[in-house]
Amino acid sequence: MIFLHLILSFFCFLTLTSVFCIDKICNKNNCQLPYCQCAVSNSNPTSLDITDIPQLVLLTFVGNLNKYTFDPIRSFLNPTYRNPNECPISSTFFVNDNYTEYCLVQRLFDNHNEIAMTTSSNKCPLTNCYDENNWRRWSDNDWKREIKQQRLNLIEQSKIHQSHIKGFRVPHLQIDDNKHFEHIRNFHFHYDSSMLFKSSNFIWPFTLNYSFNQTDCINCDDSYQTIETLWQFPLHEWTYPNATASCRILSDSTCLPDDEPYTVDLFFDFIKYNFDRHSSLTLGHRSPFIIELDLFWLLEHQNIRLEALIRFIEYILNSEDYDYVYFVSIEQALEWLKYPRKLDELKDFWAFSCSNTIYEYDIDCSDIELNLLTQDVKESTSKNDSNITDSQLIDRQAEDLFRSSIAFHSIWIFILLILTVLFYDKYFVHK
Ligand SMILES: *[C@@H]1O[C@H](CO)[C@@H](O)[C@H](O)[C@H]1NC(C)=O
Ligand SMILES: *[C@@H]1O[C@H](CO)[C@@H](O)[C@H](O)[C@H]1NC(C)=O
Ligand SMILES: *[C@@H]1O[C@H](CO)[C@@H](O)[C@H](O)[C@H]1NC(C)=O
Ligand SMILES: *[C@@H]1O[C@H](CO)[C@@H](O)[C@H](O)[C@H]1NC(C)=O
Ligand SMILES: *[C@@H]1O[C@H](CO)[C@@H](O)[C@H](O)[C@H]1NC(C)=O
Ligand SMILES: *[C@@H]1O[C@H](CO)[C@@H](O)[C@H](O)[C@H]1NC(C)=O
Repeated sequence: MIFLHLILSFFCFLTLTSVFCIDKICNKNNCQLPYCQCAVSNSNPTSLDITDIPQLVLLTFVGNLNKYTFDPIRSFLNPTYRNPNECPISSTFFVNDNYTEYCLVQRLFDNHNEIAMTTSSNKCPLTNCYDENNWRRWSDNDWKREIKQQRLNLIEQSKIHQSHIKGFRVPHLQIDDNKHFEHIRNFHFHYDSSMLFKSSNFIWPFTLNYSFNQTDCINCDDSYQTIETLWQFPLHEWTYPNATASCRILSDSTCLPDDEPYTVDLFFDFIKYNFDRHSSLTLGHRSPFIIELDLFWLLEHQNIRLEALIRFIEYILNSEDYDYVYFVSIEQALEWLKYPRKLDELKDFWAFSCSNTIYEYDIDCSDIELNLLTQDVKESTSKNDSNITDSQLIDRQAEDLFRSSIAFHSIWIFILLILTVLFYDKYFVHK
């Protein structure tokens, strides 16, 4: 690749034509699906007509995942809630290690939800937000250890193959010097979902191949460097009419008017209002609506928060006016973004398809036998782990080489050579 780049730079210098110069600004010529997507806001980046594309709603859960916190949400993770293609809705879980019951994680995975992750301890990396005594800002090594550990936890204790662990979100949306990017890239994650943008412009998920406009980003670091292999699924602030402030995430609720009673109606309107902004054909242009839900926050005041969320899901799924809305995991949304399909083709779209096998959530995770079993698996996998990753690393590198379009570059160089020879032949040889 370095050799090719050298040749390109040489041509760029020699001819001063932009064809040979490697642009730093993302555009339709230097960035194409399925491997590259520029960061665009306020428009629909696909080539499809806007009324032909689905509105994707991505429910994402953070927080400790166990029987206690899971109980409230199980009611809408069952097959009664179905997308327009008849498949049950699915969500994404950013799992940490604190009080996590991994057999539950495994069940969620078996029932077609996506298991993504955050760091193992889920502590605050950048500021001391729990008022801890011995708090210190995370070093690069802390980030690495935390990410590596949680990935291992999922592989060993939930028995989820590493290739299924694709997504990462920084704990408490605290991005620090982009330290996490290098590590999640090394572990072959497919996407990050940590950046938070103002809701004045809705920015579509994009790849980090090129630098992007950070004006509206609330938690980004200026020191940003491009990272070729990753997608970004940005979150957006929440707003409400007559609000005095905006909310970073749904659980802030600081943007709801103080003078109105905190009711299911108000909360439902709040969610619906932000949904409408995303799906509006003039504002959000159906940009994916990502909702961050804290499991513990949902557990508190269930009669209002959870009720309102469930009412919203039912309202959308039961109305014919919203037959263009799909509740999917980020992993599924990513496939649609790479290979956009029209609404009427979605019924057969492989990434949104499902099997009808549904497993019971009523399992006893404290079962001693089960724990012993996971211990065994833990020992054997950790011994072989390094060998597995090494061989897979080689596969990955080979894949990357292929993707970086060596074939394409070879062909145009070849054509150029032929043209040069013909040109020379015609104008110089006969003289
Ligand atoms: C997570 O658990 C560890 C050990 O059990 C504890 O030290 C830590 O404070 C917990 N972190 C959070 C964010 O609750
Ligand atoms: C970046 O975004 C801001 C806010 O949306 C906009 O005002 C500005 O023109 C953008 N800058 C560039 C270079 O596109
Ligand atoms: C963007 O990154 C992908 C890796 O995800 C890579 O395959 C692709 O070649 C990159 N595209 C450009 C134009 O750099
Ligand atoms: C916002 O304020 C206006 C004027 O005070 C009022 O008419 C309107 O109903 C309010 N909207 C909401 C959603 O509270
Ligand atoms: C490691 O892998 C080998 C071959 O794949 C297998 O026979 C063995 O049981 C695994 N476990 C350990 C601890 O070596
Ligand atoms: C893993 O690799 C190491 C060093 O390459 C080797 O000594 C060991 O036998 C391998 N283990 C297995 C199970 O293949």
